[in-house]
Amino acid sequence: MILNASGCLDALTAPRVARSLDIYVAKTITPEPMSGNPQPRLAETDFGLLNSIGLQNPGVESFCAEILPRLEELGMPFWISVGGANAADYARVCERIGERESVSALELNLSCPNVDPAAAGAAEIVAACRAVSDKPLYAKLSPHLPDVAEVATGVIEAGASGLTLVNSLRGLVLDEWTLEPRLGRGVGGYSGAAMRPVALAAVYLCYEATKGAVPIVGVGGVQNGKQALDLIAAGASAVALGSVLFGDLEAPERVRTELEQEALARGFERPGEARGAAHRPSAG
Ligand SMILES: Cc1cc2nc3c(=O)[nH]c(=O)nc-3n(C[C@H](O)[C@H](O)[C@H](O)COP(=O)(O)O)c2cc1C
Repeated sequence: MILNASGCLDALTAPRVARSLDIYVAKTITPEPMSGNPQPRLAETDFGLLNSIGLQNPGVESFCAEILPRLEELGMPFWISVGGANAADYARVCERIGERESVSALELNLSCPNVDPAAAGAAEIVAACRAVSDKPLYAKLSPHLPDVAEVATGVIEAGASGLTLVNSLRGLVLDEWTLEPRLGRGVGGYSGAAMRPVALAAVYLCYEATKGAVPIVGVGGVQNGKQALDLIAAGASAVALGSVLFGDLEAPERVRTELEQEALARGFERPGEARGAAHRPSAG
């Protein structure tokens, strides 16, 4: 299954691209509107993209009134990404959006590098959301966690149905001549090709810790089908495309075709059969 990474595709301005995905993931929504970080918010680096959008969004009420009905018109499965400053914020958005039957799942953005982190622990936020919604809940975790597998098992115990691994890394890029940060906020979220080994490690460790019991969406630097297959071998059950969509709107179709070919070439009839192949059976 191919998804987009939250924040990397606007289905309302690019409906054809959204429909080429198996599931569309909307940008993170918070209880109140957020205007985002100062401009500039995007900068290219040698090995990827730096962004500091800062969860700009219209807030949950305006989202439900104006955007959600238009997402429903796309006629495809979609998830909504949820953010907030504390557990009550996340729960409020989940409760409000969870009322809508059309929403297939809620992805809890527990890891945005561009806003101050929620004080509550990830498991506490998941438990608050589980208490108000029966929807599948995906916990999107940060690559900065010292022990991502421990947090993953904690959020699953608290009621998460799946994991999304990972959000962007914190990064900084300086102007060549002024030597000042190129982004208005200074530090931003680093994404793209350099993320691949980081995302692979997180997926690998969480698959091992959860014994493959929950679905995992692998995210980070995927640009072609072989890289998507690597994430599946590490333990992902689906792959999301992020930064690649800024330069290649045909990526979903292309990566899907390449993924099928790369899996077949290694003896897997379907890409899903390769899930966990990177985990060697224990000796003896
Ligand atoms: C411009 C931009 C905006 C993003 N906005 C969000 C967001 O709103 N919520 C979220 O969970 N992740 C957001 N992300 C992170 C991506 O979903 C993804 O986790 C990250 O970019 C790594 O994937 P990639 O290397 O394929 O881009 C954003 C990334 C970019 C580049």
